[in-house]
Formats: sequence, structure tokens, C-alpha cells
Amino acid sequence: MVALHRGHGHHGDMNLARFPRRRYTPGFTPLEPLPRLSAALGGPEIWIKRDDLLGLAAGGNKTRKLEFLVAEALAQGADTLVTVGAPQSNHCRLTLAAAAKEGLKCRLVIEERVPGTYAHEALGNNLLFDLMGVESVRVVPLGADLAAEMAVEAAAVRARGGVPYTIAGGGSTPLGALGYAACAAEIMDQSFDLGVAFDAIVVASGSAGTHSGLLAGLVALNTGVPLTGINVRRPRAEQEGNVHKLAVATAELMGTPAPSRDSVVALDEWVGPGYSLPTTSMVEAVRMLASLEGVLLDPVYSGKAMAGLIGLVRRGDFHAGQRVCFVHTGGSPSLHAYARDLRDPALNG
Ligand SMILES: Cc1ncc(COP(=O)(O)O)c(C=O)c1O
Repeated sequence: MVALHRGHGHHGDMNLARFPRRRYTPGFTPLEPLPRLSAALGGPEIWIKRDDLLGLAAGGNKTRKLEFLVAEALAQGADTLVTVGAPQSNHCRLTLAAAAKEGLKCRLVIEERVPGTYAHEALGNNLLFDLMGVESVRVVPLGADLAAEMAVEAAAVRARGGVPYTIAGGGSTPLGALGYAACAAEIMDQSFDLGVAFDAIVVASGSAGTHSGLLAGLVALNTGVPLTGINVRRPRAEQEGNVHKLAVATAELMGTPAPSRDSVVALDEWVGPGYSLPTTSMVEAVRMLASLEGVLLDPVYSGKAMAGLIGLVRRGDFHAGQRVCFVHTGGSPSLHAYARDLRDPALNG
């Protein structure tokens, strides 16, 4: 008997096997109950999908997207990956890790979304850019044309006779989002194996590939499980539009039914003053998961998403008798770049 989850393979509805894919994680990530958090909140039974334990340096959601994106890069004969992210970008860290593992080079464009927040000597993901041998890091201001800035990097690669492969911010294209359609199938397999039916799934919603891929997968598999996104950057209507558009394009790529507009929920009450800026509820969520469950969230994404889940429990949207699955998208390396904010729970914000 193989007890480790390897899947039942009954995903003919999506047939993701026809897309070239590199494998960066052996088997499934754990799906675990959080009994001490659940007891502390006194609401639903809360479970966690441990995508912080995915493969590549320090794990996190981008690993699933990169399995499909890097497979395409290799098929095209690329020798250099080019991508873009924020100053403490997990996506840039994982793209660089995939490049290292595949023997490719990697060039990064850093969008300074909050002026003055990029410091070359910063810890967290910035240190890892250096350790993993990035070829170049170029900082551009908020509002820069990111596609054009990446084209500059691609041209530099071509000028030295190389072949660039450009990855959109967060890897959030239909091809990248397939990684999260695959995750939806994985969660449903585990849910079946464990005999645990979920009433809802909650996930951070940023560049939208994770949210969109999960939604497209849940719809393709006809699960009926609702998905709640917690925004980390944009107002609700704008983010829901972005997610819907990408979810429809992802479903089209898979040849599965398009998710409806009203199946897209991306709540914006936990963004706080803005992208990457700490909030009191994020600090509380990070400290609760760490101290009650030994699980490390991050300040920018999973911390705010968990703050949203906690807030939804407290206001009764999720309640006793229900089971909720939180998708942990990773990001813990950036905790170390936010030590001052996290150590002081009396933060204003
Ligand atoms: C740790 C973490 N969680 C969540 C997200 C959001 O995922 P997405 O950009 O696919 O919406 C990101 C990426 O930006 C991330 O790094």
C-alpha cells in the first residue's frame, strides 16, 4: 500500500498530462488540520494546504507555475529566464532557483512598488538573489512599463548570443496558472483520501495566477467548493475582473468550462494601507500561526490572507460545523526583512 499521496489520476476532465512539465516537488504537499488555531478561534475546523513546502529554494506557490513555464522555456531552447517582481519577490527567488537547477541564467527587473523599499543589501529574498547567482538585477520605479523593461533584458541576452524566455509577473499566465489547476486536483484527491469535505477554500490573491488556476481547476472538476480570494494589493472589483479574465483563459487552455463571474470572490478588506505594507491583523495572523501551530506565514501575502480568514471566522462568515482549507502560498523568507514590524504587535496600521 502506498500511503503517500501520488494521486489517483482521475483528472480526465482537465488532462494536464498533455502539457510539458518539469517536476520540482516529489509527490503532493501535505494537507493538515490546524487544531490549535481552530480551537483558539472557536469557529470552523481549519485545514492547511502546505504549498510553502513545495520544491525549489524555500518553496511557495510559484514553484507550481514554474513547472509548466520552465518546461516551455526549455522546449524553446532558452538559456536565460527573465522576469519581474517586487523588492522582496518570492516569484523572482523561485524563478532564479529554477534557473539554477536547470543550468540556466536569470535576469530580474525589480519594480519598486513602494518608493524607497528596494535596498541591495536587504535580507530575505534579496540575499537569496545574490546567493543563487542572479546575472543582473535592475530596479525600475512603480509605473514603469514592465513588459518593455523585460524586453530590454531579453535584448541584452540576445546581444550576447543567448536565447531569453520572459516570464510575466508572478508567472500569472494561463500556462502558469495550470500549476494551480493541478493543485485543485491534488486538494480534491487528498480530500477524498482523508474523507474530509471542505465547505470553502481560502487563498491569497495577488498577480492572480494562483486564484485563477485554483478556480479553473475547481470548476473543471465540478467540485462545487467555493473559493475565497483575499487581496494583497488591489480593490475588489479590479482584482475580481483580473482573476475572472485569467481563469477564463486558463479554462480555455485546458478545454474546460469557463468559471462564471460570480464564482470570483476577491475580498479587499485586509490589504491595509497598500501592497507589502504591514497591518495589525497581518502581524496577529503571522504570530498566531507561528505560536499555535509552528507554521511560518509571510508579511505580504499569506499573512494578510490568513488575517482575512481569521476576520471571516470572527464575523461569522465561516462558522462551527464547517471545514475550511487555507492554501498556504509560502513566502517565509521575507519574514526576516520585516523583523521590526513583526516583533511589535502594537503596530499602528
Ligand atoms: C507567498 C506568496 N503568496 C501569494 C502570492 C500571490 O499569488 P498570485 O501572484 O498568483 O496571485 C505570491 C506571489 O505574488 C506569493 O509570493
